[in-house]
Amino acid sequence: MCGIVGYAGKNRAVPYLLEGLEKLEYRGYDSAGIAVNEEDVIRIMKTKGRIGNLESLIASQRHSDATVGIGHTRWATHGKPNDVNAHPHISQSGLFCVVHNGIIENYLQLKAQLIADGYRFVSETDTEVIAHLLEQNYDGNFVSTVRKTTAMLEGAFALCILCRDFPDSIVCTRWASPLVMGKSDDGVFLASDVTAILKHTSDIYYLDGHETALIADGGITFFDKAGNATQKAPKHIDWNVSAAQKGGYEHFMLKEIMEQPKAIQDTVSPRIDSDGRIVFEDFHLTDEEIENLNRIVIVACGSAFHAGEVGRYVLEKMTRIPVETAIASEFRYRDPVLDAHSLVIVISQSGETADTLAGLRLANEKGAKTVCIVNVVSSSIANEGGSVVYTHAGPEIAVATTKAYSAQVSVLYLLAGYIADRKGLLPEEERRTYVDALRKLPELIAQTLEDCGEQMQKLSEMFIPLEHAYFIGRNLDYACAMEASLKMKEISYIHSEAYAAGELKHGTISLIEKGTLVVALAACSDVFGKTMSNIKEVKARGARVLCVSTSENASAMSEVDFKVIIPDTLPLFAVTLEVLPMQLLGYYTAKNRGCDIDKPRNLAKSVTVE
Ligand code: G6P
Repeated sequence: MCGIVGYAGKNRAVPYLLEGLEKLEYRGYDSAGIAVNEEDVIRIMKTKGRIGNLESLIASQRHSDATVGIGHTRWATHGKPNDVNAHPHISQSGLFCVVHNGIIENYLQLKAQLIADGYRFVSETDTEVIAHLLEQNYDGNFVSTVRKTTAMLEGAFALCILCRDFPDSIVCTRWASPLVMGKSDDGVFLASDVTAILKHTSDIYYLDGHETALIADGGITFFDKAGNATQKAPKHIDWNVSAAQKGGYEHFMLKEIMEQPKAIQDTVSPRIDSDGRIVFEDFHLTDEEIENLNRIVIVACGSAFHAGEVGRYVLEKMTRIPVETAIASEFRYRDPVLDAHSLVIVISQSGETADTLAGLRLANEKGAKTVCIVNVVSSSIANEGGSVVYTHAGPEIAVATTKAYSAQVSVLYLLAGYIADRKGLLPEEERRTYVDALRKLPELIAQTLEDCGEQMQKLSEMFIPLEHAYFIGRNLDYACAMEASLKMKEISYIHSEAYAAGELKHGTISLIEKGTLVVALAACSDVFGKTMSNIKEVKARGARVLCVSTSENASAMSEVDFKVIIPDTLPLFAVTLEVLPMQLLGYYTAKNRGCDIDKPRNLAKSVTVE
């Protein structure tokens, strides 16, 4: 949520800043801006709209040779997305300039005080208070001024700051919003996400909370929370640059859909040993602790929550431990009953989602065991989890998640198999069947994508004029229906809802009329017959039904108008294949409707505000 970049080196800053902002645009894209330190003035260029608008603005203005600058792409929280509210923000006399990711919760108080002290505000943002506070706190030392200022802030922030008196320097700091940096022969690069600087270096410094960094003379000096200079080693990231580019695909979303076989392979195979046993070096519970677990709670937001819904069925079935899912923004304010015998599974692609992070902290405070399923290495959630299990999906750029979701589900399969095995609930033969089927998933995913690509493209045409669509299913199919419905609505802007198929008749069926499109997910063989009954109910009211199921059920699907057949696998794993045509359906519908697929309106990939 909001993207930050910075560059200080020997070359012109503007091209690097724009290049970094383009890579971060998925984090927020309602306005963008840069600031460069030019001799005795900090020059700002900013505008509402996409990075493209900013590029045109910069091209129309005087060329800048400055070699130090900061930039920002915004997802509005305080104030409309317009030119004035766009970052960077500058202090009253132009001494300090700042870009900010996060929310300052006490900004109204600080603003009132600054106004009383004679400061004039031009924007509606919380960020502008930081610029003026820096100026008010200025003591001639860039780093100590920043530290004094951030000590007054409550909330979340990642900040990159310029000071007119230090034209060769940038100071940055963070709390609860990410910030990374790296060095190359060309200079120092800063960003809120590694994807923006991977092109220049794979050795990344992760700034810790309340740590401050001074970038000057091609080097970085780190200061800990107490202000003491510290040594810090970079972490090598093995995501390559091409993984963060489109690689010939029209959209990141399609590329990421097609990367799912690899994402699952990379996530699953290192966790299965040569004897066909699931191994979890990164899951730190002892056998005794596992035996004593009396409750599992899965906490997440968005699609990660839907992955958790799949996990709920699979974990409960395999481990016989009661499993509950909780939307993180609800969980955190609920005073949940947790103790040392509870396992809280926290799921997050970005590892930065504010509500999910708060849910993790609450679980830690209450003494529960925690395990975090995270894609982004060294993210906040990864840093605070009791155990951390990484998905190896690689960088995901499209706002609508696909490969990270599937990788999260595959970790939940691994965890369910592992816990069941440790509890002695998985006899040798069943374990082999389970693990073999898990190993075979990447191949089946590739086959499903290959088989249903053209069909989904064609079927998507009937969704173009729709205003509403319904997705139904039971058990795991219902978990898939939730994700399928979200994929449809978030990128194509068609209103869609997911219902437990048996619940439809308790109200929603009154919305079904002639021509209504109902997508039925029906890959779970044990409830297939029940779902077919619900299909008959909507058909009787005039609905057109598109149904996804496995080949063993194909002949029993005579009632449906459009059939999509996925390969056979273990019943627990069918949902992983079933979601693929749904991702493609959302993608092609959005494409046919001319939507901005990778950056849907009003959304952001990494939601660092609650
Ligand atoms: C945003 C994204 C979703 C994502 C959710 C949770 O809403 O648009 O795709 O599922 O955040 O994100 P996380 O990074 O915690 O998985």
